[in-house]
Amino acid sequence: MLTVRNIEVSYGGVTALRRVSIDIGRGETVLLVGANGAGKSSLIKAIIGAVAPFAGSIELEGRDLRRLRADQRARLGIGYSPEGRRVFATMSVRDNVLSGACGKPAREQRDAYGWLCEIFPLLREREAQPAGQLSGGQQQIVAFARAMCAAPQILLLDEPFFGLAPIWIARISDAIREIQRRGTTILMSEQMARPALKLATRGYVMRGGEVRHEGDVQTISALALSDEYL
Ligand SMILES: Nc1ncnc2c1ncn2[C@@H]1O[C@H](COP(=O)(O)OP(=O)(O)OP(=O)(O)O)[C@@H](O)[C@H]1O
Ligand SMILES: [Mg+2]
Repeated sequence: MLTVRNIEVSYGGVTALRRVSIDIGRGETVLLVGANGAGKSSLIKAIIGAVAPFAGSIELEGRDLRRLRADQRARLGIGYSPEGRRVFATMSVRDNVLSGACGKPAREQRDAYGWLCEIFPLLREREAQPAGQLSGGQQQIVAFARAMCAAPQILLLDEPFFGLAPIWIARISDAIREIQRRGTTILMSEQMARPALKLATRGYVMRGGEVRHEGDVQTISALALSDEYL
């Protein structure tokens, strides 16, 4: 479904990705693991169009994404939940979630919002409250729901568990399982490899801007949990 071939990304003089290639099949949940600075976010940002690789190719179902702007890629069905659970702090919880679906017909927005409130009763309970007033775990739910509100075909989650208490990790994990059941394809990055490995089917271990290993979850879990990559 998504094919990344030999992409290179640098920020000024700093090389962030070197000849990185990954493949994601429809319905898969693929994990990117690696320590700080490994290049996980850069790879995700290159896919959504937030950074421009200077070499390599990115295709979604055979379609070259490189010339498309981020909003055009979003319309093709690429959803994104950024690291650091970014929410619009002064906007209500409801408006935060609906902002993910702007451009969609009102009916679709209503349906998506209703479904998300069923999975996350918190959204309904805190609907009118400014999102900045919520706890970290609650904000992560809002960021996640915003990405899901557009009903993406492929969802990119950048460190959805970062800094969260176990209870929130469990809730986010349940939500990810629910969207897996709905057939959504997922690419998630995570330093907290343990809970992420329970959700993934396959993964890539990154270090220093390169993919060092790839394989099914059994193959990469020992590596993903080893000191070298954490
Ligand atoms: N905006 C930027 N300007 C300059 N260098 C950057 C920028 N963003 C990332 N980098 C550098 O690119 C490299 C890869 O960073 P990236 O954020 O992709 O890693 P990461 O695996 O997501 O790390 P983390 O686990 O800390 O989120 C690092 O060396 C980082 O310092
Ligand atoms: Mg990152």
